[in-house]
Amino acid sequence: MPDDPISNDSTNPHFEQLRVASSTLSARRRRLLQLGFGSAALPFLDLPLRVAAGAQPGMRFPLLAASSEDRVRVPEGYHVQMLYAWGDPVSDAPGFRGDAGNSAAEQAEQAGMHHDGMHFFPFVRHGQPSSTHGLLCVNHEYTDEGLLHPDGMADWSPAKTLKSQHAHGVSVIEVELAGSARDLAWRVLRPSAYARRITARTPMRIDGPAAGAAAMRTRDDRRGNVVFGTLANCAMGVTPWGTYLSCEENFNACFNGLDQPTAAQKRYGLRARGAGMRWHEHDRRFDLASEPNEANRFGWVVEIDPWNPASVPVKHTALGRFKHEGAMLTLAGDRRVVVYMGDDEAFEYLYKYVSRDRFDAGKAVGGSLLAIGTLHVARFGADGRGHWIALQHGQNGLTEVNGFADQADILIRTRQAADLVGATKMDRPEWLAVHPGSGEVYCSLTNNRQRVDVDAANPRRGNVYGHIIRWREDGGDAAAGSFGWDLFVLGGDPQHADPEQRGNIRGDAFGSPDGLWFDRDGRLWIATDVSGSAMHRGDFARLGNNQLLVADVVSGEVRRFLTGPRGCEITGPTATPDGRNLFINVQHPGELPGGRSDPTRPLAGSGWPASQFANVTGGRPRSATIVVRRDDGGIVGA
Ligand code: FEO
Ligand code: CA
Ligand code: CA
Ligand code: CA
Repeated sequence: MPDDPISNDSTNPHFEQLRVASSTLSARRRRLLQLGFGSAALPFLDLPLRVAAGAQPGMRFPLLAASSEDRVRVPEGYHVQMLYAWGDPVSDAPGFRGDAGNSAAEQAEQAGMHHDGMHFFPFVRHGQPSSTHGLLCVNHEYTDEGLLHPDGMADWSPAKTLKSQHAHGVSVIEVELAGSARDLAWRVLRPSAYARRITARTPMRIDGPAAGAAAMRTRDDRRGNVVFGTLANCAMGVTPWGTYLSCEENFNACFNGLDQPTAAQKRYGLRARGAGMRWHEHDRRFDLASEPNEANRFGWVVEIDPWNPASVPVKHTALGRFKHEGAMLTLAGDRRVVVYMGDDEAFEYLYKYVSRDRFDAGKAVGGSLLAIGTLHVARFGADGRGHWIALQHGQNGLTEVNGFADQADILIRTRQAADLVGATKMDRPEWLAVHPGSGEVYCSLTNNRQRVDVDAANPRRGNVYGHIIRWREDGGDAAAGSFGWDLFVLGGDPQHADPEQRGNIRGDAFGSPDGLWFDRDGRLWIATDVSGSAMHRGDFARLGNNQLLVADVVSGEVRRFLTGPRGCEITGPTATPDGRNLFINVQHPGELPGGRSDPTRPLAGSGWPASQFANVTGGRPRSATIVVRRDDGGIVGA
């Protein structure tokens, strides 16, 4: 989506100022990190600890060149298959119509648009997780109205509003690897008793300290604890009790109708009436003039039980309200639940939630674990240290005197609370990943076009290519109050004329890191999201289409594994427990500078996936889930 204007005008320090000031310290710090301090085991149900902290996972696949082709490319010895594209039925609904002629009711039973975060939940057979049969949860981040309707936004109507709302949310599909050795392939099982679409209209419960608060009440929900739908579903998380977390990111784009936004509304990107989504014209929930509190009910983390299609999703207000990218869950040494989260906007912050209670594998559900706990925000120091500051009413200046009435108020206005406690401004935190052996946390900071001058005499450009930082919690305990941080890699183009823009990548060049995911062997997968307006020109002229890379975090080597079709971003990497099937989302193939497609020229930017897969309905570019396997059936990326 196009960048929002900067909404953080606090005077808090910016990470870049610390990074430059600390560069002389970084060699010493890197040695400290390499030595490794002890770490607690992370007993994920689906990811048993199996990696030694310093073990190198190996990545011996052949090199792959950057690409501008309108197809997905993978290294020799690998193949790729189509699984689930926008408009495909989740179960037994009608199929996709290439002229976008599917109705709103059909869209509610089909894959939404703009696939993003995703996770494979295996069925368990004889006590072992299956790597051939599972449920796939897929986020649908936003809509391109130019492709969603045959004539785009012309004659905007209630039916178009409804179809657009049905194209947001989450899919739960049942998938299986089947066939003979020669034609082994993944397929969506239809019909399936598990299949489900969750949309911007699905009823869900609100829990945690903000549930029931006055600012959460609307005409449709006078108690402030029930909300219709989830939207702008970006990245994700997984709980050890087997549920899926879907995160609401650019929710502000779905609201409209204001004449004069308040300062509080501006802080969350809610702008004065103008260009944007037009849901508000036919659904007063999204008309801020009519229902100002509805926007307070979005921007949360939503928990979904994929195993129970009748379950009511829950919005967990204890995890804060902001433009949530993902929710990376791990366990502290004492088995409290820890969730790392980023707020993806320029100059926004990094957060960590710690539960009050401990995870008990004997209990079937999470219960209070995501409802009662403490949210913290990160403050980085130039000395390579950092601290987590509690966003708790009565602490750190978060009191009535400073404008925070209670804990609900702090959570609904998480950004303002973080401003007040002096959190460190970051360059758009996207995905987070926890190393399965060392417990080190990695975070991609995708880029920041705004200039941050460290030294007035030497003006710098913004953070053009992004970077990946990492930190290690003190004592190796995820619940610790402080940590040591380091820069893992600076994106860049090693051939750039400006030495400042060359980065420090050991291996294949990339920019705008976004998706991050550790596989079971400790390979770090990096998915990129260079915007359509930057791709193939200027700083990004040599970097090609968006791509998926693999990093060895011990040696620092980075190797390109996959290149996407034109105009897409690559996102959502996840695998079966055996590591032999890698699921990836190709989002917004064909996206042009500016974002919204022209319905009279739907194929102007890309014809994918029909351009690559003969059996796929074309007519429009379609976001899709694909699967990559090795020809010999081996572990992907090894
Ligand atoms: Fe939805 Fe920040 O990417
Ligand atoms: Ca992202
Ligand atoms: Ca994106
Ligand atoms: Ca992004």
